[in-house]
Amino acid sequence: MTAAERAWAELAALAAAPGASAIRPLFAADPARFARFHREGAGLLLDFSKTSISEAVLAALLALARATGVEAARDAMARGEPVNVTERRAALHMALRGPLPGAGAAAHAEAMEVLARMRAFTEAVHRGDIRGATNQRFDTVLNIGIGGSDLGPVMVCRALWRAGDPMRPIHLANVDGHGWEAVLPQLDARRTLVLVASKTFTTQETMANAHLVRRWMEASVGKNGASAHFAALSTNLAATTAFGIGEDRVFPFRDWVGGRFSLWSAIGLSLALSLGWDRFAALLEGARAMDAHFLAAPLADNLPVLLALTECWHVNGLGLHRRAVLPYDERLRRLPAHLQQLEMESLGKGVTLAGAPVSHATGPVVFGEPGTNAQHSFMQLVHQGPRPVPVDFILVARPDHGHAENHRILLANGLAQAEALLMGREAAAVEAEMRAAGLPEAEIARLLPHRVFPGDRPSVTILLPRLDAHHLGALIALYEHKVAVLGALWGINPFDQWGVELGKVMAAPILRELEAGHVGAHDSSTAGLMQALLRLQAE
Ligand code: F6P
Repeated sequence: MTAAERAWAELAALAAAPGASAIRPLFAADPARFARFHREGAGLLLDFSKTSISEAVLAALLALARATGVEAARDAMARGEPVNVTERRAALHMALRGPLPGAGAAAHAEAMEVLARMRAFTEAVHRGDIRGATNQRFDTVLNIGIGGSDLGPVMVCRALWRAGDPMRPIHLANVDGHGWEAVLPQLDARRTLVLVASKTFTTQETMANAHLVRRWMEASVGKNGASAHFAALSTNLAATTAFGIGEDRVFPFRDWVGGRFSLWSAIGLSLALSLGWDRFAALLEGARAMDAHFLAAPLADNLPVLLALTECWHVNGLGLHRRAVLPYDERLRRLPAHLQQLEMESLGKGVTLAGAPVSHATGPVVFGEPGTNAQHSFMQLVHQGPRPVPVDFILVARPDHGHAENHRILLANGLAQAEALLMGREAAAVEAEMRAAGLPEAEIARLLPHRVFPGDRPSVTILLPRLDAHHLGALIALYEHKVAVLGALWGINPFDQWGVELGKVMAAPILRELEAGHVGAHDSSTAGLMQALLRLQAE
């Protein structure tokens, strides 16, 4: 038996022990449980006490982290080794925000050069030195991109942008023309700077939208003037040139930046333009603080490691394959969407690095909404559904508004949800309450099972002092590193995404057939649906 196999077996034994998922007894037995099961790092606080992780489970999880080589994997990533083995690429997103050893040093130097160009461009646009074809200042930045070339920038813009910031950010991702129709009324072509954000510059949706927007821009400011309104964020310089974007308007990055880890690279240009350079730099600084913590803190005090180990306990120990992310801050409303890509595209893998089928479950389904809205939609299932759903609660201590009472209500609800999941409501208490309210005995008996809350439902809570650029950067990097740790624990490659390819390939012949109005060889469902669509379109 290898050390890793022994560690997995030890974890399985702890998970199979009676009461392994009970949390309340752990609190009852240890008044200092919160003190023992929370950590701070890079300005964030992580509380994982509201889980069934005991001292013994934590020790086993840490032993598993050591046995599966989490530290070695982290250090190899930082050194710029080709940890993305299937694409033979490094995963050097940390080099975008701070110096690194080994190959990471050169990567950082190169990233700094691009950042310097991005800064000069941003400041020239803000000063009005760079203008549109009609000599008007740009006041709007339209980012065209999808997946990692959209979700990260959108999430950060929603979190940090406020009226009065340097430029208005608009994002166009979906190839659905209704997406374009929705943003069009907000755009004045003469004042709009368009960023075509695509690592590959071949993504069908992005290129279709880029051509659509270019036609609109040409119709608005003239064929010759349109190029003054475009810039490209990409690794594919041949394709950006072919699209007609000059080199001085191309902000490159390297293939060692994965799409879902790319908001710190040139892909973040819409952030710099809309928020201002200083806040983009503060975002990078915050991520860098989390990088430093991740690289230096011992495993037992390391926030990304502990967040990953908690997930491992829930997925592999307790068989909980879903997780809800509930930011109690409206500004973080797109964080769940960003984490869906970051985590599910990274960890939704069925084979190990060596290509063998995984022997343990991998990434859970991630979903979420801001609190308190979530409480009035899917939290019913989280409180009383038959299987627990672990939750990440994200709370921000100080808001950036003056409505103190609203903020207290918000925080009280977030804390109460976590406490309710933990404590539940036992039959005796529910029964006593109904009796005190004067309900007849028959009615009490009928309602009782519906009104009991099982409790012992796990959650972690992440506290931010404020939702500013620095702490948001640290929060995003926390989740990025959590993904890398889980990749190491599960022995999978968290940096590739082959699973998104097949659908792209199969869309090509279907597109041709829809264009031609002729249905080729498909399974009977696909063929039947295509025929029905063609028929409905012809009506
Ligand atoms: O759909 C998969 C994917 O490759 C993502 O990983 C990526 O973020 C997205 O497409 C967009 O890719 P690109 O930036 O190359 O247009």
